[in-house]
Amino acid sequence: MMVMLAKLVVGLLVLNVSSASPPRYVRQAELDTYDGNNYENGDYEVTVDEIETDTLDPLDENETGHTASLEEEEEEAVAIKPIPPGSGGSGVSMGPDTQKGMPTCLLCICLGSSVYCDDVKLESVPPLPKETTHFYARYNKITKINKSDFAQMNKLKRIDLTSNDISRIDDNALFGLPALEELIIRVNRVTFLPALPPTMTLIDASHNRLGSSGIQKEAFKDMAGLLYLYLTDNNIDYIPVPLPDSLRSLHLQNNNVQMMHEDTFCNLKDFNYIRNALEDIRLDGNPINLSKTPQAYVCLPRIPIGALF
Ligand SMILES: *[C@@H]1O[C@H](CO)[C@@H](O)[C@H](O)[C@H]1NC(C)=O
Ligand SMILES: *[C@@H]1O[C@H](CO)[C@@H](O)[C@H](O)[C@H]1NC(C)=O
Ligand SMILES: *[C@@H]1O[C@H](CO)[C@@H](O)[C@H](O)[C@H]1NC(C)=O
Repeated sequence: MMVMLAKLVVGLLVLNVSSASPPRYVRQAELDTYDGNNYENGDYEVTVDEIETDTLDPLDENETGHTASLEEEEEEAVAIKPIPPGSGGSGVSMGPDTQKGMPTCLLCICLGSSVYCDDVKLESVPPLPKETTHFYARYNKITKINKSDFAQMNKLKRIDLTSNDISRIDDNALFGLPALEELIIRVNRVTFLPALPPTMTLIDASHNRLGSSGIQKEAFKDMAGLLYLYLTDNNIDYIPVPLPDSLRSLHLQNNNVQMMHEDTFCNLKDFNYIRNALEDIRLDGNPINLSKTPQAYVCLPRIPIGALF
C-alpha cells in the first residue's frame, strides 16, 4: 500500500515536472546569453536540482523488495564507458544505452532536445540521442574527446564540458558537426584546440594549457558568425589572427602575448575600414606594452584593455 502510494506520488511528480518545467527549462537554456563569467550558476542548474530532488526523493523510502531505485541505479552507473553511438538503443525516449545498459537519459536528464549530465562522474562522453541539440556535461571527469563521441550528431549546437579533465580532443572530433555553434571547454587541460566548423558563434577555451602551438594557423578565419572568443588563462603568445569581422569579444587576459602588429585588428591600407563589432578586447595580464602600437586601434570602437605603460 505504501509502495503503491509512493509510486503514485512519484508518478504525479514526474507528470507535473514534465508538463510544467521543461518549456521554462529549455527556454532558459536557449535564451541564456553567455557572458563568459557568471553562467556557472545559471538558472537552469537550479531547475535541474529541483527536478532531481522532487522526482528522486520519494523513491528513497522503503522499496527494498523492488528493483533498485532510480537513485541507486544512478550511483551504480556513474563511471560509464563509451560505446560506439547507435549500438543498442533502448527506445526513443530514454536515448541510447550506455555500456552498463543504462540509458543515457536515465543517468542524465533529457528535456526536449537538451541533455544535462552535470556532475555525474562521467569519465567519457556518453552516447547521445541523435536529436540532441544542447549537451551539458560540466563537473565530470572526462579525460578525452574521441573522434567517435559526436560522430553524426548533426543537430548538435552547443557542447559544454566546463570543469573536466580533458587533455586531448581528437582532431576531427568536432569539425564535421554541421550545426555546432558553441563550444565551452573552460577549466580543462587542453593543449591543442581542434579544428572547429565555420558555424561557430562562441568558443570558450579559458583556463586550459594552450601554448604557442595550441591553436592552428588561421583557426578562426572562416567563422563568419563568430561573436565570442574566450582564451583567458592559457599560455598563448600571439593574437590568433585573422579575426572575423563579426567578433565582439576577444578575451586573452593572463596569457603571454608580448607584441602585436599594427594590422592585427585594423587595415593600415584602408583608413575607412572600421571594425565596429569588436568592442571588448582584454589583454591585461600579458607582457605587452599597448603604447607601442598606437595605429593598431584606429579602427576599433574602444582601445583594448591592458597595460599602457
Ligand atoms: C524503512 O524501512 C526500515 C527498515 O524496515 C525502517 O527502519 C524505516 O523506518 C523505514 N523508513 C520509512 C521512511 O518508512
Ligand atoms: C576513447 O578514448 C579512450 C581514452 O583514450 C579510450 O580508452 C577509448 O577506447 C576510446 N573509445 C572509443 C569508443 O574510441
Ligand atoms: C611602452 O611603449 C612606449 C611607447 O613606445 C614607451 O614610451 C614606454 O617606455 C614603453 N614602456 C616600457 C615599460 O617599455
